[in-house]
Amino acid sequence: MSTRRTSRKSTSAQHAMSTPDAMIDMHGVVKTFRNAAGEFTVLKGVDLTINRGEFVSIVGKSGSGKSTLLNMITGIDHPTDGRVVIGGMDIYTNVTESQRSKWRGRNLGIVFQFFQLMPMLTLLENVMLPMDYAELYDFDERPKRAMEMLELVGLEKFANKLPILVSTGQQQLAAIARALACEPPLLVADEPTGNLDTRSANTIIDLFEELARRGKTVVMVTHDPSLTSRTTRNIIIADGELINETVAKALPWLRHRHMMEFTKIAETQIYPAKTTIISRDGHVENFFMIHKGEVEVVLLDRRKQETVISRLKPGEFFGEIELLRGGRSIANVRAGADGPVEVLTIRREDFKRVMDQSPITMDAVGKIVQERLDAHRAADSRKFRPFSLFRRRQ
Ligand SMILES: Nc1ncnc2c1ncn2[C@@H]1O[C@H](COP(=O)(O)OP(=O)(O)OP(=O)(O)O)[C@@H](O)[C@H]1O
Ligand SMILES: [Mg+2]
Repeated sequence: MSTRRTSRKSTSAQHAMSTPDAMIDMHGVVKTFRNAAGEFTVLKGVDLTINRGEFVSIVGKSGSGKSTLLNMITGIDHPTDGRVVIGGMDIYTNVTESQRSKWRGRNLGIVFQFFQLMPMLTLLENVMLPMDYAELYDFDERPKRAMEMLELVGLEKFANKLPILVSTGQQQLAAIARALACEPPLLVADEPTGNLDTRSANTIIDLFEELARRGKTVVMVTHDPSLTSRTTRNIIIADGELINETVAKALPWLRHRHMMEFTKIAETQIYPAKTTIISRDGHVENFFMIHKGEVEVVLLDRRKQETVISRLKPGEFFGEIELLRGGRSIANVRAGADGPVEVLTIRREDFKRVMDQSPITMDAVGKIVQERLDAHRAADSRKFRPFSLFRRRQ
């Protein structure tokens, strides 16, 4: 087979080299807390690249390390090991605490769950505070700029009110206006909607979306799975380690512990354009998840005429029909014509073992298998008229 095995462990965009597009670049970040009870490693070697203009959510169980991870990005805490580069600057190497604090004031907007507005100051004064701290903009210019920020979040009418006189949703909007005061390229938010009702939460997410559209990078920790569908990318942290994003996208029904298992055992394979990955009637020994590129699912008729019946994209999977229904492929699957395809593979026995332990995933995958088999039969009977055999997942 003309494949190239690139590594034992899976690699992904998470491990990409630092590029000019990268806003956040973390390499091998470890955080260990030491106290009287001993040592506790909360981040176990995190590699993460987030590009400019991305709107990224970070989810994970309570205690999995989400806030600790954000604190590494904001420079509020420092890693025990590893490197953190934000906007091209290595924020922990040869940088003093006070330099970092100054850098933070000018480059980062931070939003917390409990707003942390100054209760004795009006919303306008709250928004002006970071400009004072960072000593940015002329003194006379600051109220006007603060007002612009309040307009951006729709609070101009409340500028002279104290925080207690506006709703909690509006307090959070004011906190976002404050975070934007010094026009930072990066906005970091820890559970920004955790204390809000659904409607206010949606307003906040609308605002983040708009900011990302305008080129800001937004990174948000959340507990709310309904919000992750609104972000351009979702990162799952489990027990201080990041789950491979392709695994999470392909099999969202899996428990985090199983996603992590697949993250660790998945192998990356690259197939050059047009090479066969699975041939019809051949034995299938792997479950495949597409990481980059496209594959084509091809049927051949008796005269060996081929029809591309489906194209699968990153985050989609194949091979499962054969693994769950007994061994042989019902179609040819090959790398798309436009370029190489990078897939993550899980060996048959590992896939089956995890499926056996995960009835919900088995059920969901089983439904897709059934749809594909039905569609395949229909294709056969319709002499391969093009149609979508494989359901597209988002
Ligand atoms: N300063 C500290 N000293 C010791 N342990 C800490 C410290 N900060 C965090 N931890 C521990 O690290 C683990 C991860 O904490 P972290 O706050 O990052 O979790 P989280 O994912 O943000 O959880 P939550 O969803 O509850 O906010 C927890 O077990 C926590 O008790
Ligand atoms: Mg937290």
